[in-house]
Amino acid sequence: LARGPVVPDLVGRHVVISAGGTREPLDPVRYLGNRSSGKQGYALTRTAVARGARVTLIEANTGLPDPSGADVVRVGTAVQLREAVLKAASDADVVVMAAAVADFRPAEYAEGKIKKKDGQEPAPIVLVRNPDILAEVSAERATPDQIVVGFAAETDNVLANGREKLLRKGCDLLVVNEVGERKTFGSEENEAVVLAADGGETPVPYGPKEGLADTVWDLVSARFSPQA
Ligand code: CTP
Ligand code: CA
Repeated sequence: LARGPVVPDLVGRHVVISAGGTREPLDPVRYLGNRSSGKQGYALTRTAVARGARVTLIEANTGLPDPSGADVVRVGTAVQLREAVLKAASDADVVVMAAAVADFRPAEYAEGKIKKKDGQEPAPIVLVRNPDILAEVSAERATPDQIVVGFAAETDNVLANGREKLLRKGCDLLVVNEVGERKTFGSEENEAVVLAADGGETPVPYGPKEGLADTVWDLVSARFSPQA
């Protein structure tokens, strides 16, 4: 789908975007992680900059070069991501949680490298829940007009699970991807449906992650109240 000239509809707005995937350390050399590439969050960043926003990108473990025109904050774990997001959200017009946040972290961190011993079974890894950053940001908005956007990857009952998740998180928009064998992780392209708390449903055809990003900004921009 061809787009016209870039509209500077995010001028004067501060947008906060999280990208990548958190890593939860077990010891100084090992972690629990996920396959998020961070590419969707970077596409959101580039398009928001192009549309005139001041962007704070909070990235976790992407290994990607800093995008130009954004303030970049680097974090590792879910707990660090929460702290950085809450701090940046305090004066944000929009918060987009594109990062894959580990749901659990090891209950204990070993200060020294965990060693194996001959004849000894490995110890089980005990996990505890991480904070739900999207739910927290949605519940405790810095201003009543702040717009909060989440992402969800689902394998089954994509729309029904997406609707349920949107309600549970309390965000305004939820971008739902169907994931499967060759879809989404690490790829340059994406297909999604954007669900809105007001009942809206916007399908986004398979295409570059920039296209999905621009659709998100269109939907966000349409929800802004006029600037003072
Ligand atoms: N998210 C978050 N904090 C968490 C987990 C998820 O902020 N601890 C955010 C993600 O950044 C994403 C959205 O919530 O924007 C949905 O993530 P998802 O993993 O699909 O949701 P969960 O509630 O963890 O549900 P599930 O059990 O399906 O993983
Ligand atoms: Ca999860």
